[in-house]
Amino acid sequence: MILDGKKLSEKLYISLEQNIKKLKNSPSLAVILVGNDYASSIYVKNKIKACEKIGIISKNYKLDEKTSEDELLKLINELNNDDLVDVILVQLPLPNHIDKNKIISAINPEKDVDGFTPYNLGKILANEKPYFYACTPLGIDILLNHYEIDVMRKNICIINDSIIVGRPLAAMMINKGASVSVCHKYTKNLKDFTLNADILISATGICHLINDDFIKKGAIIIDVGICKKIDGKTISGDYLQTSNKASMITPVPGGVGPMTIYALMQNTYEARFKKERNE
Ligand code: GUN
Repeated sequence: MILDGKKLSEKLYISLEQNIKKLKNSPSLAVILVGNDYASSIYVKNKIKACEKIGIISKNYKLDEKTSEDELLKLINELNNDDLVDVILVQLPLPNHIDKNKIISAINPEKDVDGFTPYNLGKILANEKPYFYACTPLGIDILLNHYEIDVMRKNICIINDSIIVGRPLAAMMINKGASVSVCHKYTKNLKDFTLNADILISATGICHLINDDFIKKGAIIIDVGICKKIDGKTISGDYLQTSNKASMITPVPGGVGPMTIYALMQNTYEARFKKERNE
């Protein structure tokens, strides 16, 4: 069975668009991209396109690779204080000369649409509600809920330990009663963990790292990876299906990717909605 993120997101956009129309003012998202990372520029383009489609104002800052940490901090400070900006997104990765943690921590947690600030990550760890959940974990959670996949008492293996995916997602799944193992580049024997997983969530970007030798019969595979196949053209994921062992899988493309962008749009809408409710 296919967990169709593209179809689900298209359905969810219909009601989100209606809700956005009911607001007094359009939600606004500031998007900061530093440098020329190829994948990042495609991700950012897709995010801006989604904003245009749904009635969210995107303010785009495309900064030079050589932008200093101080310049970036100054911009974030301005956006934090700008009432016309509801939320702020700093696309990762940042160039090496910039301290990522310092930049993320500078974002006002109430505008931290990615949920990457220590405040918002800490809230999830404490099993409290953050201002925002990180978009990929939130998109996955919406997808699991839609297909009525209950994670309570399930073994979940996540191959990713970043603040973008693995860390917030692990905390969210623990909060819902799952037992979670988080694997990463220092994991000694990956199969020890993957073979035990009822739900395997892989976000490495290593083409076909996982095949059916790694999974338990009936496992659910959530594939967050994006890679180019050997032909250099076709997009594929971390998982290569080699039999009918999995019970459900997310396709690449058309699985988690569209759900991540949808989650970003939903977070941005909610920021505006909360502001107007409190006015
Ligand atoms: N880089 C890869 N994924 C993401 C994401 O969801 N948000 C940001 N800001 N950067 C990313």
